[in-house]
Amino acid sequence: MPMPEAQSTRWRGKTWAAWGTLAITCVAYGVFALAAGFGLAESEKTRALPLPFQIHALAGGIALITGIAQFNPAIRNRFVRAHRWSGRTYVLAACLASIAAVLNAAFFDVSLAARMSFVLLGCCWLLSTLLAYWMIRKPNVSLHREWMLRSFSLALFFVTFSFWVPVLAGNGQGKDTAYFLAVTMSWGLNLLVAEVWIWQTRTGGSAPDT
Ligand code: HEM
Repeated sequence: MPMPEAQSTRWRGKTWAAWGTLAITCVAYGVFALAAGFGLAESEKTRALPLPFQIHALAGGIALITGIAQFNPAIRNRFVRAHRWSGRTYVLAACLASIAAVLNAAFFDVSLAARMSFVLLGCCWLLSTLLAYWMIRKPNVSLHREWMLRSFSLALFFVTFSFWVPVLAGNGQGKDTAYFLAVTMSWGLNLLVAEVWIWQTRTGGSAPDT
């Protein structure tokens, strides 16, 4: 199905550049996660639960790479079948990654507060992904889009976490407090941005189509 002229006009220039930058970032982090899942990325860290960790890293890598392509309307409208299949792959990968993430988080050697934040994040990621899938089966396209935005904003935790940890680590709080804040801000702020985006596009604001 060709893309309506209004949409293609809105998706020129800065929006393409922003999506392209995010896409490169997601692919880079996704490839790193796949390498970690295959045990190739780093000198072996000890994992409390090796198999769930492997499932988490491999499925998380696939979720990041397939997820970003879904948010480009030019690709989505031109390759509808590919959008469906990579969407299904994203849903499956996100479900596996989030369930494994909750297991890993429960046994992760960090403070109780940080562990609880991880577990809450994993549950929200799973729930938002399932709701997004349920909405497209109904079919309710606009609610599907909104829940996918929430779901992917939570997947992007893996990217933003690598930013917040070093920023907060050097900020004078205790190690546990800094780590808890880094985990919580890494997904809380992502979700907030997604909510603002959803709200703007719902009320016909100026955010470009996703
Ligand atoms: C697409 C998103 C995600 C990807 C690609 C991903 C990938 C990874 C990778 C590669 C690691 C190892 C990092 C390292 O040690 O250097 C890791 C660790 C971990 N991740 Fe994720 N992750 C994602 C999202 C999440 C979410 C949403 C949670 C929330 C529960 C989570 C919880 C954890 C935990 C607790 C560990 C530490 C596991 C351990 O060392 O035993 N991750 N993740």
